[in-house]
Amino acid sequence: MSAAKKLKSLVLVTLGGYSTYAGISFWRNDEKFYRSFIMPVIHFLPAEGAHNLAVMCSKYRIFPTSLYKDPESLSVRLFNKTFSNPIGIAAGFDKNGEAVLGLKDLGFGFVEIGSVTPVPQPGNEKPRVFRLLEDKAVINRYGFNNDGHDAVYERIKNIKSSGFDGILGVNLGKNKTSTDAINDYVQGIKKFGPVADYLVINVSSPNTPGLRSLQSKESLRELFCALVETRNSLEEKPPLLLKLAPDLSFQERKDVAEVIQKPECKVDGLIISNTTIERPSSLINVSDKNETGGLSGEPLKQVSTEMIRDMARLTHRSVPIIGVGGISTGQDAYEKIKAGASVVQIYTSLVYEGPPIVDKIKKELVSLLKKDGFKSINEAVGTNVFK
Ligand SMILES: Cc1cc2nc3c(=O)[nH]c(=O)nc-3n(C[C@H](O)[C@H](O)[C@H](O)COP(=O)(O)O)c2cc1C
Ligand SMILES: *[C@@H]1O[C@H](CO)[C@@H](O)[C@H](O)[C@H]1NC(C)=O
Ligand SMILES: *[C@@H]1O[C@H](CO)[C@@H](O)[C@H](O)[C@H]1NC(C)=O
Ligand SMILES: *[C@@H]1O[C@H](CO)[C@@H](O)[C@H](O)[C@H]1NC(C)=O
Ligand SMILES: *[C@@H]1O[C@H](CO)[C@@H](O)[C@H](O)[C@H]1NC(C)=O
Ligand SMILES: *[C@@H]1O[C@H](CO)[C@@H](O)[C@H](O)[C@H]1NC(C)=O
Ligand SMILES: *[C@@H]1O[C@H](CO)[C@@H](O)[C@H](O)[C@H]1NC(C)=O
Repeated sequence: MSAAKKLKSLVLVTLGGYSTYAGISFWRNDEKFYRSFIMPVIHFLPAEGAHNLAVMCSKYRIFPTSLYKDPESLSVRLFNKTFSNPIGIAAGFDKNGEAVLGLKDLGFGFVEIGSVTPVPQPGNEKPRVFRLLEDKAVINRYGFNNDGHDAVYERIKNIKSSGFDGILGVNLGKNKTSTDAINDYVQGIKKFGPVADYLVINVSSPNTPGLRSLQSKESLRELFCALVETRNSLEEKPPLLLKLAPDLSFQERKDVAEVIQKPECKVDGLIISNTTIERPSSLINVSDKNETGGLSGEPLKQVSTEMIRDMARLTHRSVPIIGVGGISTGQDAYEKIKAGASVVQIYTSLVYEGPPIVDKIKKELVSLLKKDGFKSINEAVGTNVFK
């Protein structure tokens, strides 16, 4: 049996008695059907197993292709590129660049793969992913398991000629044991610069000690300058984005904003935000909230939106922002856009609601734009920055 056939039968076995109904609705990409039947069944699997199954389904393009045609009002010009819609899949879902075409099928306007490190690494011990169902949240401490630069590069180097007409971002990481983070990022920029539409560097660590001190501002500047220089040495010059943690204090946000606006090493955009190490008191699931790791999903939503607004203000809207954190509806996406995000990404809500969520968000967004009299996403971006 081919891998794809095996997988199809595995999916049908997983679906068990529902398979007749599944035979109809699965392919119709029916949203309620996913929420009420398919996702609960998938949630019987351990979180990491379910993640792997979902990646495999995307890889072998088992999921039905979205039939929704992106209207002109959803198209966004950013980084001198056209995004056919502003909804992307966030880093960490397709860590190894296996599922790019399948993710595009689901209706995503852009796909960010990674984090990819120079050499393969296994990540932390299992279990390392936890669902907080009642909270619509996930805690993960994968520890950046991935296949490494070479393997991932081989998979995606020809992606544009194999039918992928979306935007591809590559999120670069550093090896756990690496003693020279800058060098790991430099290698990543050189490797993926020629094939990516944008590159992401992580300044996410909530533990980055005291950005406040002049000295660490200086080292941030050094880092950015080295990376921007490397990028500038390439023939193709992909935009360089920084991904930030929501756990940065206001002073730290100010410092980052100050450093990234310096003309000599200006970064091209921000991704806001990564997961949080905070555990908001609103969390319902008390047993798993103790787990170490980054929290994503609904409890992150407001925190991340406020950080988008902060950074949009602090940079005087001079740096484009990709908004991410807890988006599961068109309204959620719209709030981040009005707070200053040009496009947005999702991850955790896909885990809970399955592929139909992509079209759902897009349709809701279209009607919200219309209701407020905006002809395009671009018109709505940042309209609430100073509110
Ligand atoms: C299981 C899991 C793995 C993740 N892995 C990565 C990663 O490798 N690199 C990264 O930059 N972000 C990673 N993230 C963070 C997401 O890209 C995103 O910033 C975060 O989950 C917030 O979005 P959400 O609330 O829509 O999930 C991961 C998130 C989850 C849930
Ligand atoms: C924008 O893209 C076009 C082609 O798509 C290219 O010719 C042009 O040089 C790009 N401009 C910048 C500033 O990168
Ligand atoms: C992100 O950066 C922090 C330090 O700034 C580091 O601890 C962490 O390992 C990085 N993550 C990746 C994937 O490189
Ligand atoms: C990670 O990659 C760097 C190359 O920049 C290398 O020096 C380091 O040893 C690697 N880590 C492991 C675990 O091999
Ligand atoms: C919390 O999460 C655990 C593990 O995912 C699950 O078994 C439990 O039912 C959840 N709910 C509560 C209220 O603890
Ligand atoms: C959470 O952690 C604390 C100490 O770190 C421990 O005492 C407590 O039992 C844990 N709670 C649950 C529900 O696991
Ligand atoms: C994101 O945040 C987690 C902790 O919440 C941290 O371990 C990780 O290094 C950060 N960076 C990336 C790229 O995920």
